[in-house]
Amino acid sequence: MIKTGNGFANGIEFMDQQHTFFVASMSRLLEAMKNGEGKEEIRKTMRFVELHILKYFPREEEFMRENNYHDIDFHITQHKKFRADFEEIKEIYFSKGYSVSLPLTLQRKMQDWLTNHICKADRILVDYVNSVRKTGGGSAG
Ligand SMILES: [Fe+2]
Repeated sequence: MIKTGNGFANGIEFMDQQHTFFVASMSRLLEAMKNGEGKEEIRKTMRFVELHILKYFPREEEFMRENNYHDIDFHITQHKKFRADFEEIKEIYFSKGYSVSLPLTLQRKMQDWLTNHICKADRILVDYVNSVRKTGGGSAG
């Protein structure tokens, strides 16, 4: 059972679970930076974010389709933007190599995503789904 006391938790288990991993990954990167271990940790963080984009985003997008979410296009646009931003960071890493500013850039990107997407757009999505379920609308087809 996931605690609902977390700022990002919205009660939908597959989302809360993945978002818990997201926050943990981000926290580990921040901790590693403080200990001068950003270079080692950033590889793990990038692997996590990559999988988050490739496996979790499609699942969330499927969830929106299943629930006939009216704002799906805008939400998917945000996912695409995050992916593009991440690809940019990856590109710098693989073309120019590691630099101390890179983990900071990635960590800030993740923090921004947590604040402005996970805690906002994802929450709005879940609020919508809950309200539709409560009123018995949104047939499963
Ligand atoms: Fe989302």
